Amino acid sequence: MIKILGFAGSLRRDSYNRALLRAAQKLAPADVEVEIFDIGSFPLFNEDMENPLPPVVAAFKEKIVQADAVLMVTPEYNYSISGVLKNAIDWASRPYGSNSFDGKAVAIMGASMGTIGTARAQYHLRQVCVFLNAHVLNKPEIMVSVAADKFRDGELVDEKTGHKVREQLVALVAWERQLRKS
Ligand SMILES: Cc1cc2nc3c(=O)[nH]c(=O)nc-3n(C[C@H](O)[C@H](O)[C@H](O)COP(=O)(O)O)c2cc1C
Repeated sequence: MIKILGFAGSLRRDSYNRALLRAAQKLAPADVEVEIFDIGSFPLFNEDMENPLPPVVAAFKEKIVQADAVLMVTPEYNYSISGVLKNAIDWASRPYGSNSFDGKAVAIMGASMGTIGTARAQYHLRQVCVFLNAHVLNKPEIMVSVAADKFRDGELVDEKTGHKVREQLVALVAWERQLRKS
């Protein structure tokens, strides 16, 4: 069983990005388990709180370390990732020398109301992942545009997007295997 830890950078109850992450969980191939971690209760990052880490942060870091790969689902806020997502990533990258993303296989997807489906945010996130030394899967990219047309009642209903999501998970597993070998 391949374990993927997924988290989404929106706290909104009817969030398209949370719905996209749930879709990934459902659409995962039989040998892949996507566990969802809710990053909504993390305190705002404060270096003074690193020792000891808040329990929810310690649990998150442990889940990342135990997972074979990570799935980050990002909304686009003001042409970048949300503060909520960056806060969780910053926590998991700390304390210095204990970056939980180091060497991890990562996939990125996102959904927005606009027509370019979080492209700008995703490319910011890729930049963040350079410093994390996370190995981000290049393709397929999943940028869900005009999200209101693709979800209904919290469910992904767009078949084409569903196929892409599954394709990305398959590619992520292959990517993780390749990284493990090298
Ligand atoms: C603070 C804020 C900034 C936003 N900035 C952008 C943006 O730069 N580009 C974009 O396509 N959508 C932007 N949006 C719209 C979001 O794409 C839309 O609210 C989306 O539904 C958020 O994701 P969610 O459904 O997972 O909460 C912004 C929304 C908020 C609340």
